[in-house]
Amino acid sequence: MKHRFPIRAAAFGLAVCFVTGLCACTGSRGPSDTGTVTAVEEDSFLIDVTPYEEAINTDNSGYLVLVNKEHAVSSAFAPRTLTTMDPSLTLYGKEIRMEASAALAAEALIRELWAHGWTDVFITSGYRTYEYQNTLFNKYIADERVSHPAWTAARAEEEVLTYSARPGTSEHQTGLGMDLIIADLHPALDESFASHPCYAWLVENAHRFGFILRFPKGKESVTGYSYEPWHYRFVGREAAAAIHEAGLTLEEYLAQTE
Ligand code: DAL
Ligand code: ZN
Repeated sequence: MKHRFPIRAAAFGLAVCFVTGLCACTGSRGPSDTGTVTAVEEDSFLIDVTPYEEAINTDNSGYLVLVNKEHAVSSAFAPRTLTTMDPSLTLYGKEIRMEASAALAAEALIRELWAHGWTDVFITSGYRTYEYQNTLFNKYIADERVSHPAWTAARAEEEVLTYSARPGTSEHQTGLGMDLIIADLHPALDESFASHPCYAWLVENAHRFGFILRFPKGKESVTGYSYEPWHYRFVGREAAAAIHEAGLTLEEYLAQTE
């Protein structure tokens, strides 16, 4: 059975505060601010998206927060509201939290994947604290030095920076990024994800749930990271659709809308 729900069009600006909970300003802009005519489209899904609709359709520009090598956040930065994901959605039921709307949108996306028959896809990473990212980053450097005994610490760090963010520069700290995994391929979190049939669907449909493929192939010089077919970033449905249709990265999209 296909389910339909209306999609609202909205205008976006950029505001960091929404997810930080650390400052009092607000960055939300909607159609009424700009005179944009609200369009209503219809979209169809295998699952009933009604419980997730409001979250997916958010027009809060805070969801466009940019965190990358050039835009760091403090060690105290955290989403205002974190939701613990239903353990059935996560790899081996591990405890994963995400920002509240991103969590709902992620749940809808996973349930839609399952409805397509890809019941072996799970969330393996969501919100990460600064401290956890620090632990991960340093572990990767240590692993690289074991694999390449001749490397200096600086060379190992240079390598790690192609695939892992220095603490304070990972969008996992916003609670808006998530890593998906195929349970049978665990612990692999690599390009093999792109061989799974769900990947082609995700490339074409993740935006309908407000997510973008954050580190696409061929955009390494823009994002600063290697291709990550498993990493999806919640930005809200309207922005995700615009980014998807234009084939842009978040960096390029924000530069255009400045
Ligand atoms: N793997 C991505 C770049 C991160 O560490 O946030
Ligand atoms: Zn990730």
